[in-house]
Amino acid sequence: MSEVAHYLAFETLHDGRRIEIRALRPDDRAALIAAVARSSAQSLYRRFFEIKRHFTEPEIEFFLNVDFVNHVALVAVVEENGRPVIIGGTRYVVVQPGKAEVAFALIDQYQGHGIGAALLRHLAAIARNAGIEELIAEVLPDNIPMLKVFEMSGFPMSRKHDFQAVHVSLRLR
Ligand SMILES: CC(C)(COP(=O)(O)OP(=O)(O)OC[C@H]1O[C@@H](n2cnc3c(N)ncnc32)[C@H](O)[C@@H]1OP(=O)(O)O)[C@@H](O)C(=O)NCCC(=O)NCCS
Repeated sequence: MSEVAHYLAFETLHDGRRIEIRALRPDDRAALIAAVARSSAQSLYRRFFEIKRHFTEPEIEFFLNVDFVNHVALVAVVEENGRPVIIGGTRYVVVQPGKAEVAFALIDQYQGHGIGAALLRHLAAIARNAGIEELIAEVLPDNIPMLKVFEMSGFPMSRKHDFQAVHVSLRLR
């Protein structure tokens, strides 16, 4: 397994709070399910294109069994009541050589503090190191925070609209 499986970084948000950004671990199962339970219907819809609260065992396996080569997942961790809690994360899945699809999710109370932007910075750096040239994403047209995170990433961005989604592409090199 790639050394990305041990990825660990820290970020300070604009309000001074510290967050940890680290590789997803196989033992994060309960924490991920807890984060979904704390997410609003709108956030789940924006992430999964449906209000998805329950996941089948194969779906959970897919989310947790990450090889850190073709599938890389990072989580954002904050301290709540003195203990570390996963409040969201991001992942990419390689869809063809040099190209990976990304997705993000943060529980609502932690949105709008720059964590999505920080997650993209870290994920894009990992992707570039792995030789990935393009990140793609499907974003609902009204998902302004996600579109802003992509627009302000500093990477050249293109987008195509269809009836359901905005297809975003970021050129990493
Ligand atoms: C979409 C999502 C991941 C964005 O993360 P976030 O932490 O809320 O977004 P951020 O705080 O990093 O970015 C939003 C704000 O920061 C600004 N910003 C984003 N990237 C920036 C950057 N690189 N530099 C400076 N500012 C930036 C934006 O302008 C925006 O400003 P605003 O507060 O005035 O609107 C999060 O809102 C979420 O999980 N939503 C629900 C699930 C979802 O939509 N998933 C997407 C599926 S692909």
